[in-house]
Amino acid sequence: MSGELSPIDAAKFVAAKRAADFVEDGMRVGLGTGSTAAWLVRCLGELVRDNGLRIKGVPTSTRTAALARDVGIDVIGLDEAKWLDITIDGADEFNGDLNLIKGGGGALLQEKIVATASDQMVVIADIGKEVEHLGSFPLPIEVIPFGWQTTQALVEETLISMDVLGRNSTLRMNGEVPFFTDEGNHILDLHLARIGNPRQLALVLNQIPGVVENGLFIDICDAVVVGFGDGRVEVRDINGGTVERDKLDFVETDNLFSDLSD
Ligand code: A5P
Repeated sequence: MSGELSPIDAAKFVAAKRAADFVEDGMRVGLGTGSTAAWLVRCLGELVRDNGLRIKGVPTSTRTAALARDVGIDVIGLDEAKWLDITIDGADEFNGDLNLIKGGGGALLQEKIVATASDQMVVIADIGKEVEHLGSFPLPIEVIPFGWQTTQALVEETLISMDVLGRNSTLRMNGEVPFFTDEGNHILDLHLARIGNPRQLALVLNQIPGVVENGLFIDICDAVVVGFGDGRVEVRDINGGTVERDKLDFVETDNLFSDLSD
């Protein structure tokens, strides 16, 4: 294992590297956003350059698009791809049903659209992302800037009748100014502590005018590749009910490990 990588980065890397095995020649691949997804994009870039893998990548954010182009992946938009063979993305939390919280990186809207337009969604995550109940990680929701404070008040009022422990929310900031998503919207982070009924909450939140989408991914993920700091990986498939275990050894190469800032 690498002397350079922290255990958490090593776990993210081995999850991404194992997930790259899901990608076959000719596939249209949804490329997630975040630090784990960035490892995946790097791994796929290496396969494109060194092994002649031919894929079309559909990125879920401007920063993933830039990285994918950088590493040599042929990038196309979702409208051109129309439907994808697979999407591989990170998550902020996943539970035993492979339901997720996503959006810590602010890209949940494109991530959900792309994952939903895929035959298969595979999540890559370090073991620290596994939870019994979703909700410790603040749930991001994307809201349009018009009247966002009114939307926030409506969301907090709605949470009173929901099975959650916390109810306050905060506008995500980028330094001194509100954060803007790639779609020009804001993000409210909901501090819920524990979500008793994620499916119900996801449906109810999306009925509030001003809410564009929420970061709960329910019944979207098919498999999770869990990475551990010592190089072990587990592939858990929710449809087949299977768990495969493996251990990856890797050697750092300049191409893959240099300047990874995401
Ligand atoms: C981006 O909007 C998110 O959904 C990410 O997929 C999620 O935050 C995981 O990111 P890391 O891989 O950086 O933990």
